[in-house]
Parts: sequence; C-alpha cells; structure tokens
Amino acid sequence: MSLLWQKGGVEVDARIQAFLAGDDVLLDREFFLHDIEASRAHARGLAAIGILPQDEFDGIDRELTALANAYGDGTFVLDARYEDGHSAIEDVLTERLGDAGRRIHTGRSRNDQVLVATRLWLRSKMDELAARCVEIASVALARADAERDIAMPGYTHLQRAVVSSTAHWWAGFAEAFIDNAQRATQTRDWLDANPLGTAAGYGVNLPLARDATTSDLGFARLQVNPAYAQLSRGKFEIAALEAIGSATMDLRRMAWDLSLFTTAEFGFVALPARYTTGSSIMPNKRNPDVVELLRASHAVVSAARAEIDQVVALPSGYHRDLQFTKGPLVRGVGHGLRALALLPDLMASLEWKREALAAALDPSMYATDLAIELARDGMPFRQAYREAADPARWAARDPATSLAARISPGGAGDLRLETLRARLDAFPARR
Ligand code: ARG
Repeated sequence: MSLLWQKGGVEVDARIQAFLAGDDVLLDREFFLHDIEASRAHARGLAAIGILPQDEFDGIDRELTALANAYGDGTFVLDARYEDGHSAIEDVLTERLGDAGRRIHTGRSRNDQVLVATRLWLRSKMDELAARCVEIASVALARADAERDIAMPGYTHLQRAVVSSTAHWWAGFAEAFIDNAQRATQTRDWLDANPLGTAAGYGVNLPLARDATTSDLGFARLQVNPAYAQLSRGKFEIAALEAIGSATMDLRRMAWDLSLFTTAEFGFVALPARYTTGSSIMPNKRNPDVVELLRASHAVVSAARAEIDQVVALPSGYHRDLQFTKGPLVRGVGHGLRALALLPDLMASLEWKREALAAALDPSMYATDLAIELARDGMPFRQAYREAADPARWAARDPATSLAARISPGGAGDLRLETLRARLDAFPARR
C-alpha cells in the first residue's frame, strides 16, 4: 500500500496499517464517484486562482473522467492497494500526469474531501428516498381510491373497536409516506451545503474558489465556517438516517399489520407467493419472511443512527474516530432504501380476503355509532354512551352505512383523498 503521507524514516507496521485502514477502502467504493466529481471541482477551482496551469487542469479533468469510466466498467477496482478512495485518486493522477497529480491536493485535506464526497452521496440518497416515498404514497392512494367499499375491523389495543375500511387503512399510509417524502426533501435541502475548501477544518492561506465549487457541484449554499464543516460530520449523516427512519418506522407498522393479517386467525390478506417462503421442516408452511425482514429493517436504520451518535461524542475538530461513521451510514442507508424499494410492488399486489374481513365485523362494533347518533339527537353523550353499551340495542347494522356516515373530515365517509393527491402532486420530480 502506498501512503500519501509517508515521509520516510518511519517503519510501516502492516498490522497497525490494516487496523487504521479497516474496511475504509471498501466503504469508499460507495463515495468514489462523488469523490472524483468533487476532485474535479477542486482542481477547476485551483485553476481559477492560478495554482494549476490550464493544461494541467485539462489533464486532470480528462484523467478523472477516465478513472470514473474505468471504475464504472470494473477495469479500475478500489481495493487494499490504496489506503482509501482519496489516496487512490491522487495516486492515479500522479501516475498518469506526474506533477499535475502531485498538485491536486493543494489547499485541501482528506478531512474536507471525505465531507464533500459524503455530502454529495447523502444528497442523492435523500433524492432517492423522496422519490421512493412518493411512489409508495401513490400506490397507497390509488388503492384507497379503488377500494372505498371494502369494510374491515378497526382495532385499538388489537381489540375489535369500530367498523373501518381498507381504504381508510391505505389512506393512512398514503399520508404517512407523503410526510416521509416531505421530510426527505427538507433533509436534502438542509444538508445541501458545500464543505469543500474548508481543508483540515481551519481554512488555508489561499483565496480558494469556494463559491465556484459550490455552484459547480450544484450545492444550494456554502457551508461557510471550516470548524462547523467538521462539526457537521456525523450530524448530517444522523439527519439522513432519521429521514429514512421516519419511513422505515411506518414500514415496520405496515409489515406488522401484514404479518398479523396473513395468519390463519385473521386471514384478511393473501400475499403473492413470491413474498413467502417455505419451511425446511414443516411441509404445510408458507411464511411471510419478506414482510418480517421489512419489519426488522427499521432496527438496522435506527441502530446505525445510534452508532453514529456514539462515534461523534468528540470534541470539535477532526478525529480519526469519524471514519467509523461510514460503516453504519452505508449499512443503514443502504438497508433502509433497499427495504423501501420492495414496498410499492408488495402493496400493489397484496389481496384482501373480503369474506374474512366481513366475518370479523360483529354488532358490538356499531356501539360507538349508536352512542354518537343518540348524542347527535340531543341525549347528553355520557348517557348515550351507557345506553349504547347495552347489547340489546346492537341491532345488526350494515358496514356500508356505518362507513358512509363517518363524515368527520378524514374519516371513512370523507377520506379527503383529493387533499392527499394535491400534496403528492406538489412534489417536484427531482433529478
Ligand atoms: N478515512 C478518513 C475518514 O473517513 C479520511 C480522512 C482522513 N483524515 C485524516 N486526517 N487522517 O475520516
């Protein structure tokens, strides 16, 4: 392994080097293309202030494109030959261009280099999250719209409570994922700030073209203070994991519902066979393993957030501890987004079993309707509540009438799907 910072006279201990590098170079594969783009912007900025002659910038520009292409088609592999992705870029440029490569690190540190690559990565992941949440909300909304007549039990404490509908269930998740999409775009905008040019955390004695690199990399603003750029390491990662966690938390609840609804005891839902697996010992089983792993996915996201939170228990300034934010970040974001990606098809293809849903409605579930009707007609509610508790008064009603009468805004009789649709349509298709 070649080390950028090796100055001679100091013996390199392989075990110690391996510990320092950890799985960093492998994790840097996630960020490598962003690191290349940020390196191009930094080099262009150096050319703008006269540190790099134009022809040297042109060479760097060309070789960075070649490196990105070679990385994309697998002819360049980021592996343990390098300490990390940052070293790999400088090594390759130096090997191909000589002094131009040796000049690229002027005025930058790996500390701002890792920040800017991570920042670009986080921004694209928040775009992906927003788009995914919009897709999930669209499926939920379409199903709510199509299923207004399917009654199902509404539960509290997992006890039968009132008549509800599958449309009401879907519309709840539609609104949840609209909020999740909004949180993703707000988080994206919040972290859309350029840390490049803050160097090791204290700026440098050069008039770096920071405003130019900001627009070059498409950032909305400059992250001004170099000390703050370092303080934001981990903090912005946590914000992104919280945005994903907001979605995986709703996913966990939906998966919980589906794991209950697919039991023989409930029997409300049939999942397509591709979402179930067999048992190695029990020939009769079809298990909802995918739904269960979707449910567990929130744990991965939430634990990643907690791990980063522990790592950043540090004083201000750069510390090598911060390298350990990358593992949980890649794991949490990757796992969360992969889980969410399965959801649109699962939601679109699950089937309700109408007979089982209907059979699970019993007359007690109209008691609340009755109490409120009596109160509407003038009886004080507390008295109506007592009268409606009497099973003798639970004449069988029909679910459709109960649902149609649920006219409180948002209720099954007035789902306000148009309001949700308008919010959903307001999301710009970004990038
Ligand atoms: N792998 C390092 C990290 O993730 C890169 C920055 C190294 N900086 C340093 N001063 N040693 O933090």
